Amino acid sequence: MHLCVIGCGNVGLVTGACLAAAGHEVSCVDIDNERIARLNAGIVPIFEPHLDDILASARKGGRISYTADAGEAIRAGDVIFICVGTPPKDSGEADLSAIEHVARQIAEEARSAKLVVEKSTVPAGTGLMLQRALTAYSRGSKNFFRVASNPEFLREGTAVEDFFHPDRIVVGVEDEAAAADLREIYRPILERRFHCPLHNGVCPPGHNAAFLVTTLNSAELIKHAANSFLALKISYANVIADLCEKIGANVEEVTHAMGLDPRIGTQFLRAGLGFGGFGFPKDVQAFIHLAGSVGVDFDILKATERVNKQRIDVFLEKVRKALWVIKGKQVAVLGLAFKAKTDDIRSAPALEVVKRLLEEGAIVHASDPEAIPRTKALLPEVTYHDDPYEALKGADAALVFTESDIFRTLNWERAKSLMARGLVIDGRNLYSPQKMRELGLEYYSFGRE
Ligand code: UGA
Repeated sequence: MHLCVIGCGNVGLVTGACLAAAGHEVSCVDIDNERIARLNAGIVPIFEPHLDDILASARKGGRISYTADAGEAIRAGDVIFICVGTPPKDSGEADLSAIEHVARQIAEEARSAKLVVEKSTVPAGTGLMLQRALTAYSRGSKNFFRVASNPEFLREGTAVEDFFHPDRIVVGVEDEAAAADLREIYRPILERRFHCPLHNGVCPPGHNAAFLVTTLNSAELIKHAANSFLALKISYANVIADLCEKIGANVEEVTHAMGLDPRIGTQFLRAGLGFGGFGFPKDVQAFIHLAGSVGVDFDILKATERVNKQRIDVFLEKVRKALWVIKGKQVAVLGLAFKAKTDDIRSAPALEVVKRLLEEGAIVHASDPEAIPRTKALLPEVTYHDDPYEALKGADAALVFTESDIFRTLNWERAKSLMARGLVIDGRNLYSPQKMRELGLEYYSFGRE
């Protein structure tokens, strides 16, 4: 089976690269000619650990190709993965215009039967609309389109690992044949019968992924339900952190003990600045909108979103309380991306805080191992440094926004000697309050004394 991946963003590139690494032949398409030209020149336009190596080896092996000619790739593909963006509209509803555009292209360009797989995150019901659009635009041709949903559960920063070693692979289908095709595509991963580039072919023992076959609507709902639940966990932990501060308890002690109950689980209970990125904020909004459109009031998700937005204010309040006057103060921003190991700055809490500090007259010096080039274009008023110690020189305060190793392992003794004032406000609870105070630093974090 020849595979076609439409959309060369984060999800499309990881999907194309990993399916090629698992032994398939893949054609990747994007409407952005410049992106395709760069990919053809061997330049990977995003930072994602391991992606460069996998793409390079797939190219060398002739298993992956890139084109801006959608027609050519669509005609070559037996199975077409749609990986285009579904950004939020002002109302919070997912904008599905790119999906519709692709449906039309597939219907018009296909010359044989296709299995069309949605990988983009879409509201429940989209697959059925996609099926309708494919039929409508094929204008009476005899081509037969089957539609499936195959949501991705890829975290940026560990997307390649998540693809090769998933907990579950969900396929929402209308017919058995589509499920069988998708099982065949994922067989190397399900049976761990591929040369895993992450572990040089010898993967550590682990559980086998579950292959779940559901209806189209269920598969689409699973993705939104999973992301929204994880977001809800984070907001819950953040409210607990606020409570800990008022009452005098330690949020880490509380969430750790809670999480040891397997019904709760330890993950996604880290308190701090809240969630950002292109997954949770837009999916929570889209899920609230979807529920509202069918008369279901998803109040707990509205609260999840509200709590998350307030994290910025809570953080800025800590900054104001510690710095007193913001105007004219020099702050060192450690971390710009929405989390570590990515250059993605979409809905990054750091950017919102920086914008607000700039408005109030602060002088901002920033460092991030990956995200400086992308942020520079957006915030030219900031001075950027590859070396975090350079950003800290002369600073009245250090603000920590991501859990990158480079910040986690920072030598605070050295940092303190460079700063104008030894003040650290930690948005990710990276350091031990006791150790920071022992170093003579004034240290504030979330939900800990
Ligand atoms: C998330 C999901 O984890 C993926 O399964 C999903 O496929 C993806 O969205 C998507 O739909 O695109 P991602 O956005 O890459 O992945 O990042 P996460 O690791 O889930 O973190 C999201 C945000 O939550 C980050 O800003 C992170 O700092 C924050 N977070 C995470 C917390 O504040 N506390 C935690 O305990 C965990």
